[in-house]
Amino acid sequence: MIYKYLYGNPFDTEAVTSEVPLAEGALPFGSVDTEDGFCFTFIMEENDIVYGLGESNRGINKRGYCYVSDCSDDPNHTEDKRSLYAAHNFILISGNRNFGLFFDYPSVITFDIGYTRMDTLQVTCGSADLNLYVIEGGSAPDIVKQFRRIIGRSYIPPKFAFGFGQSRWGYKTEKDFLDVAEGYRCRHIPLDMIYMDIDYMDSYKDFTLNEDFNDFPEFVRKMKENHIQMIPIIDAGVKIEKGYDVYEEGVKNRYFCQREDGSDFVAAVWPGDTHFPDMLNEDARKWFGDKYRFLTDQGIEGFWNDMNEPAIFYSSEGLEEAKELARRFAEEENTVHVWEMGGKLQSLANSHEDYRRFYHNVNGERIRHDRVHNLFGYYMTRAAGEAFERIDPNRRFLMFSRSSYIGMHRYGGIWTGDNKSWWSHLLLNLKMMPSLNMCGFLYTGADLGGFGADTTRDLLLRFLALGVFTPLMRNHSALGTRQQECYQFENTEDFRHVIGVRYRLIPYLYSEYMKAALNDDMYFRPLAFVYPDDRTARRIEDQLMLGNEIMIAPVYEQNADGRFVYLPEEMKLIKFLPDGTIFEEILAKGIHRIDVALNEIALFIRSGKCIPVADAAECVDSIDYGTIRMYGYEGAEYTLYNDDGIHKDYDNKENYTVLRK
Ligand code: NOJ
Repeated sequence: MIYKYLYGNPFDTEAVTSEVPLAEGALPFGSVDTEDGFCFTFIMEENDIVYGLGESNRGINKRGYCYVSDCSDDPNHTEDKRSLYAAHNFILISGNRNFGLFFDYPSVITFDIGYTRMDTLQVTCGSADLNLYVIEGGSAPDIVKQFRRIIGRSYIPPKFAFGFGQSRWGYKTEKDFLDVAEGYRCRHIPLDMIYMDIDYMDSYKDFTLNEDFNDFPEFVRKMKENHIQMIPIIDAGVKIEKGYDVYEEGVKNRYFCQREDGSDFVAAVWPGDTHFPDMLNEDARKWFGDKYRFLTDQGIEGFWNDMNEPAIFYSSEGLEEAKELARRFAEEENTVHVWEMGGKLQSLANSHEDYRRFYHNVNGERIRHDRVHNLFGYYMTRAAGEAFERIDPNRRFLMFSRSSYIGMHRYGGIWTGDNKSWWSHLLLNLKMMPSLNMCGFLYTGADLGGFGADTTRDLLLRFLALGVFTPLMRNHSALGTRQQECYQFENTEDFRHVIGVRYRLIPYLYSEYMKAALNDDMYFRPLAFVYPDDRTARRIEDQLMLGNEIMIAPVYEQNADGRFVYLPEEMKLIKFLPDGTIFEEILAKGIHRIDVALNEIALFIRSGKCIPVADAAECVDSIDYGTIRMYGYEGAEYTLYNDDGIHKDYDNKENYTVLRK
């Protein structure tokens, strides 16, 4: 059962695509106060678990902390952070009663989940203008499914996107990319994608190429011939430069976000001064989306959208204020303190003040940006998604974004932004996955190896061992950090093997992804969703159920040669050994100590189930489904989904085959 409670005059985010009946009167759970802004309060029972919030910090159970949906470009995901890049305002309270709540509100909103008072859940935002969806149902998975039904089908990428991708901020020339391709291919480490970060552009201008690419279509074609897709980045800000067509057209047609006085707002990002296309304005969105054709016309089939919170290094107003302060600091003794000066400089980036300095034009109505701040990344990605529909309605394009709001899950996936080469981020990566799935984001993954800071060989291998299972499997690192491509480390055969296991599992992973997307289901589930009556399973946060057949328990600690795993039922451990063979052992329900070396991948098949495993391949195109063998329990059956991975022929019955062990 789903009801919508309407408060005030909400902005239509278009997160929800189905009609939901309006409810009146008091909420069935908790209470709402609209005296001063909006405040929802619910007293939690001791055993209630609170799930949801998609891409957010800390645990799968969100209890015990405070989270703020306020899309932020913050590359330091330390434990104390309350906001990351996304705003996924869905929570699910699971205990004696289960219910879900979606606060469809596009500006800053705070979820105090037992932080101020351990038993109190309080959700507050500045204005009482929102739609609150209340979902009742028998079980937690049922509530998620109902929620997913009203927000529309999750994005489905092309099949090549299930391969492994290499990325790094700093690759610039054709040679840089060819070296990466060669680095992988000559060592037979599988690879399907190379990502092009900002340096492929001319002066960081969207929809341009730097002078090194003299025949880009031919370059893209040759890479594809080698089964490698090139995936360029697109940034939110458009460089201000006379004669640059995107800039000129945007100015001429009033497609950029404007200040109160009607002038185009200026924000500094990578290219220097930029304007932001007004992604919430339908005409501007169509115009910006059609710009992707510059690259699709040259053979590109995938993109990543970045800096779309939108990130602002500083605005011209902010800079002027800082300069004025600096002048006083220099000239007027003892009027400005050193820390005041330092604070001003530090607060220039992503300042809330700047988000109040520009406006959107939504169907002729001017809306100040801060009121709809959390929608920018969603609508940028929607611009691209809608354009892809126009470019080729039957073809799938790879698309994922940094910033997002629920609703964007229909147009693309996300990566979880600038993590670090920290062991703690490996575990954070794992914990985010089921929460993201609850909010509709299925095509997700983290920067494997860690983006910021220097990785180590063992950390990268353990990150990859989790990445084997995440739909997006990409190694990405920041400019200035240690080289992180798999071939930069000793004994590359270990990397070949670990990534090879991904390719052996793609028949299963792709099949489970497609079933999850097509049935509004989750690809990753917390154990509690499958074993709700098992007290131990309900509290486990470092193991996940993947699809309907398996459980994973990655190693996430430095120098560990294995780990303890809790089995909520009898399961069959299968371990991919470096010599290509598979070790199998049935383990009883309970706690086990499992050895997992750096070059091994372990997974657990649920009782009575089986999974398909193919031979290793170096790219998705060459996975031979003829080599599939079934692993798991004798007599079990598995329904395999497979299709051409390119088109959208999802409802064809022939995509399903029943396989038996
Ligand atoms: C920030 C993104 O999060 C990161 O992945 C990218 O490498 C840099 N921008 C440079 O484009």
